[in-house]
Amino acid sequence: MAGSRFLVVSVLVVGLCSALAQGLGVNWGTMASHPLPPKIVVQLLKDNGIDKVKIFDADSSTMKALAGSDIEVMVAIPNNMLRTMTDYGAARDWVKTNVTRYHFEGGVNIKYVAVGNEPFLSSYNGSFLNVTFPALKNIQNALNDAGVGGSIKATVPLNADVYNSPESNPVPSAGRFRTDISDLMTEIVQFLNQSGAPFTVNIYPFLSLYGNPNFPVEFAFFDGGSDPVVDNGIQYTNVFDANFDTLVSALKGVGLGDLPIIVGEVGWPTDGDKNAKASYAQRFYDGLLKRLVANHGTPLRPNQYIEVYLFSLIDEDAKSIEPGNFERHWGVLKYDGQPKYNMDLSGQGQAKTLVPTKDVEYLPKKWCVFDPNGGGNVSTLGDQITFACTWSDCTALGYGSTCNGLDGNGNASFAFNMYYQVQNHQELSCNFQGLATETTQDPSTAGCNFTIQIATSAADAPMKPLLVVFMMYAYVMALLLL
Ligand SMILES: *[C@@H]1O[C@H](CO)[C@@H](O)[C@H](O)[C@H]1NC(C)=O
Ligand SMILES: *[C@@H]1O[C@H](CO)[C@@H](O)[C@H](O)[C@H]1NC(C)=O
Ligand SMILES: *[C@@H]1O[C@H](CO)[C@@H](O)[C@H](O)[C@H]1NC(C)=O
Ligand SMILES: *[C@@H]1O[C@H](CO)[C@@H](O)[C@H](O)[C@H]1NC(C)=O
Ligand SMILES: *[C@@H]1O[C@H](CO)[C@@H](O)[C@H](O)[C@H]1NC(C)=O
Ligand SMILES: *[C@@H]1O[C@H](CO)[C@@H](O)[C@H](O)[C@H]1NC(C)=O
Ligand SMILES: *[C@@H]1O[C@H](CO)[C@@H](O)[C@H](O)[C@H]1NC(C)=O
Repeated sequence: MAGSRFLVVSVLVVGLCSALAQGLGVNWGTMASHPLPPKIVVQLLKDNGIDKVKIFDADSSTMKALAGSDIEVMVAIPNNMLRTMTDYGAARDWVKTNVTRYHFEGGVNIKYVAVGNEPFLSSYNGSFLNVTFPALKNIQNALNDAGVGGSIKATVPLNADVYNSPESNPVPSAGRFRTDISDLMTEIVQFLNQSGAPFTVNIYPFLSLYGNPNFPVEFAFFDGGSDPVVDNGIQYTNVFDANFDTLVSALKGVGLGDLPIIVGEVGWPTDGDKNAKASYAQRFYDGLLKRLVANHGTPLRPNQYIEVYLFSLIDEDAKSIEPGNFERHWGVLKYDGQPKYNMDLSGQGQAKTLVPTKDVEYLPKKWCVFDPNGGGNVSTLGDQITFACTWSDCTALGYGSTCNGLDGNGNASFAFNMYYQVQNHQELSCNFQGLATETTQDPSTAGCNFTIQIATSAADAPMKPLLVVFMMYAYVMALLLL
C-alpha cells in the first residue's frame, strides 16, 4: 500500500520536473517553395515529443495530418481576414468550417484561435486597429455559441511593441501599453480576462540586437555576463525577462497583473545577418530551455512554467525579407527537417540533436553552376543573377551570411542553383542564356551549402489521397456501368 503510494508520488514528482510534461510548443509556418508534407511534419513533432503547435491558418491538409495526434493546436485567422470577421455571421462560419468541423473524438485538439498575427505592429500604420477587437469578440462568441468556448479560447498574438517603458524610466516595473493604443489594449485584455483566454506575446531578443548596434550582446542570452539592469532591487540579466516583466507591469497597470501570458513566438535565426548564426541560436535555446524546465519564471512571476512556442520549426524560403534577410532562417530545422545544431528539448543541455525528418524524398543529386565557357555573354551575368535571386532565395549570400565568402563565380553558381532547385530541375531552368550548366559534383564549400530541394511530388501529399479517391470513384463508376 505504502509502497505503491510512494511510487505514485515519485512518478508525479518526476513528471513535474520535466518541462515537456507541461508541453513545449513550436510554430509551424508553411511559406516555403517546397513545404514538407504535413504528415511528415506531424511525425517530426511526435518523434521529438513536441505536443503543442501554432500554425498561421487552419489549412485543411495541415488539420487532417494533425487529426488523431492529440497535439494541442493554435489555429489562426490571418490579418487580411480580420475585417471580414467583424461580421458575426462570417465569424460563425469561420469557426464552423475551421474549428468545430475538427472537434470530435479523434479529431484535432484545438486549444486556441489566434485572431490576427501581430496586427498592431507599428509598421502596419494602424491598418488593423479598428477591426481586431471586434473580430476577437466575434470569434470568442462564435466559439461559445458553438458550445466549445469552454475549452477553446480566442487570443491575439501581439508583438512586444504593444508595450514599453518610458524613456525617462526604462525599467520593467514602469511598463505600460503603447500610448497610441492604450485604451484599445485595456479593452482587449479585459475581454481576454473575462473569456479566460491568455495574453499572447512574441518576444525576440535577436531583434533587440539587430535593431540596435549598441545593444549589449550578452544581454540577449541567458548565461549572464552582462551588466544587469537594476529595477527596484531586482537584477535583470537578460532581455527576455526584462521584456516579459514589462508586459506584466503593463497588465498590472490596468488591474490585471495575474492575466496568464503565453509566449507565442521566441527564437533565434541562423543566417542572413552577422548575429544570425547557428552558434548563437544554440546558445540562446540552450539557456531558454534550461530555464523553462527549471520552472524558473521571471522576477515578477517567479517559479512558474512559461508556456512558449519556439519560432520556428522549419526554415521558410518564401517568407518576405522586408524585415531582413534572416526572416527565411528561423527554423530550428533546415528546410528539409534536418537539424542545424545541437538542441536538447529536455533542458539538460546534453549534446544531442532533434530527431530529424524521415522519409523525405529529394530531387536527383544535381546542381546548377555558372559555366564561363558555355557560350553565354558574360556581360549579362549580373542581370541573370538578379533574375535567379528574384525567383529564389539568395539570402545566404549577403553580408554576414554563410555564403558571403564565395567569389564572383561562386555567387553566380549559388544563385543559379537556388533557382534551378526552386524550379524542380525543370528543363531550361539551368540555362541562363548559355551561362549555366548542370553538374553532379556538389559545389558546396565548408560553410556554404548548395542545397538539393525536396521532390515536389512527395511534397504534394494532398494529391495522393485525392488521386486514390478519384481512382476509386472511376472504378465504382466502371462497375456500375457494366
Ligand atoms: C476557414 O473558413 C472560411 C469560411 O468562413 C473559409 O473561407 C476558409 O477558407 C477556411 N480556411 C482557412 C484556412 O481559413
Ligand atoms: C506604412 O507607411 C509607410 C510610410 O508612409 C509606407 O512606406 C508603408 O508601405 C506603409 N505600410 C503599410 C502596411 O501600409
Ligand atoms: C478607424 O476608425 C476611426 C473612427 O471611426 C476612423 O477615423 C479611422 O479612419 C479608422 N481607421 C482605419 C484604418 O480604418
Ligand atoms: C477578470 O475576470 C474575472 C472573472 O470573470 C472577474 O471576476 C474580474 O472582475 C475580471 N477583472 C477585471 C479587472 O476585469
Ligand atoms: C553582351 O551583352 C552586352 C550587355 O548587354 C552587350 O552590350 C553586348 O553587345 C553583348 N555581346 C554579345 C557578343 O552579344
Ligand atoms: C557576392 O554576392 C553578395 C551578395 O549580393 C555580395 O555582397 C558580394 O560582394 C558578392 N561577392 C563577389 C565576389 O562578387
Ligand atoms: C547540405 O544540406 C543537405 C540538406 O540538409 C545535407 O544533406 C548535406 O549534407 C549538406 N551538404 C553539406 C556539404 O554540408
